Amino acid sequence: MKVTVVGAGAVGASCAEYIAIKDFASEVVLLDIKEGYAEGKAMDLMQTASLNGFDTKITGVTNDYSKTAGSNICVITSGIPRKPGMTREELIGINAGIVKTVSSNLIAYSPDTIIIVVSNPMDTMTYLVHQSTDLPKNKIIGMGGALDSARFKYRLAEALGAPISDVDGMVIGGHSDTGMVPLTSHATRNSVKVSEFLSTERLEQVAADTKVGGATLTKLLGTSAWYAPGAAVSALVQAIACDQKKIFPCSTLLEGEYGLNDICIGVPVVLGKDGIEKIVDIPLSDAEKAHMQSSAEGVRKTNGLLNVEA
Ligand code: LAC
Repeated sequence: MKVTVVGAGAVGASCAEYIAIKDFASEVVLLDIKEGYAEGKAMDLMQTASLNGFDTKITGVTNDYSKTAGSNICVITSGIPRKPGMTREELIGINAGIVKTVSSNLIAYSPDTIIIVVSNPMDTMTYLVHQSTDLPKNKIIGMGGALDSARFKYRLAEALGAPISDVDGMVIGGHSDTGMVPLTSHATRNSVKVSEFLSTERLEQVAADTKVGGATLTKLLGTSAWYAPGAAVSALVQAIACDQKKIFPCSTLLEGEYGLNDICIGVPVVLGKDGIEKIVDIPLSDAEKAHMQSSAEGVRKTNGLLNVEA
């Protein structure tokens, strides 16, 4: 199993680190345009191998896509991250051109690859990969919901005073501050609905804190987060590499599911060796349905900028 991660910045390096630590891939190639940077990150990470006990071989390359040849999974993290006060949507001008070039370079050397898109605005970048490549839809996966759901579980555990392992919950919809749809009605603590423990007001606060999870970190760090995004990517990569058939919310092309067409947006999917093996339709409350529709409108608005910018 060979995995390429494009972009050796904080998110890309964290992806490579978490993938390696879990020790399911034989090889991770880290690629960056900055001369020597990916080589340096790869060397530093490889020097943790004996300490952290993994055998995954991480190599770094400067913009040499021939070294990525035969990758089973490619992760695109390249582009600029947001600064405090910026929305993910504001990144489209620069990132659309980068994502288009990177995906075509990757496919030239790995025509059968599965692509995981992390660059923002993620749902629109996932849609752009659909528009600009011939990959089938099961092989184009946007990473947002897995991260947003991890942030939701963190906030739920905090509100419940419970360990995170006791909590389950999912965030669907667009990967944006207004587009996320935390499925509060489905969230549970060890199979008991969280509404049994928390007031409506407290649950609304949990949902609100979840939606600005990335923005809160961007304000604290001065740039966007990397540990949780890297861990979320590694969970998706592992589900595919190990054919786990796990359910994650991912951005995928919808053709009628959830009443939506011709849009990439976060919905629950089964991930296995073929990438997105199934879109899971789950019942939504009326409020969640309305939220999903307005989330889709937001994503479509950003998609509309593609023809102008890409
Ligand atoms: C975040 C970025 C990865 O939410 O979109 O932290």
